[in-house]
Amino acid sequence: MNFMATCQEQGMWAQILEKGVAALADELSDEASVHLSEKFGSRNYKPLPVNASRAEGARIWDGAGNEYIDCIGAYSAMAHGHLSPAIVRAVVQQMEKVTVTSRAFYNSEVALFLHGLATYCDLDMCCPMNSGAEAIETCLKLARKWGYTVKGVPQNQAEIIVFEDNFHGRTITVVGFSTEEGYKTNFGPFTPGFKVIPFGDLDALKAAITPNTVAILAEPIQAEGGILIPPDGFLQQVRQLCTEENVLLIWDEIQTGFCRTGKKFAWQYEDAKPDLMAVGKPLGGGILPVSAAVGTAEVVGVFRPGDHGSTFGGNPLGAAVALTALAEMEVNDYAGRSARLGAHAVAKLRAMPFDEIKEVRGRGLLIGVELDESVDTNAITHALMDHGILTKQTRHRTFRLTPPITIEDDLLDEALDRFEQALASVLQGTGAKA
Ligand SMILES: Cc1ncc(COP(=O)(O)O)c(C=O)c1O
Repeated sequence: MNFMATCQEQGMWAQILEKGVAALADELSDEASVHLSEKFGSRNYKPLPVNASRAEGARIWDGAGNEYIDCIGAYSAMAHGHLSPAIVRAVVQQMEKVTVTSRAFYNSEVALFLHGLATYCDLDMCCPMNSGAEAIETCLKLARKWGYTVKGVPQNQAEIIVFEDNFHGRTITVVGFSTEEGYKTNFGPFTPGFKVIPFGDLDALKAAITPNTVAILAEPIQAEGGILIPPDGFLQQVRQLCTEENVLLIWDEIQTGFCRTGKKFAWQYEDAKPDLMAVGKPLGGGILPVSAAVGTAEVVGVFRPGDHGSTFGGNPLGAAVALTALAEMEVNDYAGRSARLGAHAVAKLRAMPFDEIKEVRGRGLLIGVELDESVDTNAITHALMDHGILTKQTRHRTFRLTPPITIEDDLLDEALDRFEQALASVLQGTGAKA
């Protein structure tokens, strides 16, 4: 392996400083990249055998120059497209000024970001974090503290209601209330205080509420669960129930938020405004991890110095990127674009002539194509890759189509044509209609 030999001969650290990491990475073959990752990386992912070495817009290239259309969009984090010029400009500009200071001090970029995010979300206050899981943990802490200090729940008795097939991240607390056994086995014991009920079941929800219930936490569309859309009216019914019962409504909009579903936030489909909301993914403009808990002053205002924190949460560089990401979404009507392209894609997918497609579900550019039990989904994944489409199935045999919202109209059409050709190459002779 050339790269390894160079490292040994000339010294890896010196090479990194002399050439720069990007140049060194270009010298590494795709095979060597896979080898190093498998040897030195923990095996908590099972990547497709594609070494993404360059990306722009909705396209990704491997080291050998093969081109793919990115239909995962970094699990919905890539709304703006890879290397969005506006976001890159913001990074470069900010890099010449100040990047990370910690929240031991005030900073003007962070101030503008907090104001901008609260304004964009039409809520009062934000607690900035980095990953989605941290934003969820922040919401859970806020809800518990609100429960004890405002609602008057006895100490250590707070209950939070969540839903089957939820996905809110990977911390011990969060996987503790997952219903996916694979996410929890060998990681217990788990945090108490959570009740799990069926998604979309209002009666079960009413029955689960007690005087100690402080919050309901839900995704308005369960994305990782298989792009599951609740029954019409459910979001608004949950909102009304929370108001009647003095329970906080927390929407996890980490995947559905920021225009992915064709509105700024998925709760807007039923005007079910939350008390607290977890946001992340595209807030980082496809460049950095930026997340936040955003909510009313009554809820977010319960934190006092020392209650919570994160060294990198709310740093000037992340703030500049996030504020630019919000401005791009607003000025260029990402919500309208996502709604229009999503409706077009869903119509085209529904017209595809395969009996094995059980259902096409989606709102905006959050789309799932569920295939029936007869289909070898691994074969489909590889056929998609061979046809230059990068995507994977979520749980329950559903392939996700979540490309960057900025994907060009004709590139989306090309992706859909290739998707059909890939399905045809596997399904031929097993029920494909002519
Ligand atoms: C709805 C939802 N919540 C939370 C998370 C966790 O976000 P992160 O991976 O940034 O921790 C995800 C990630 O896919 C998600 O889809």
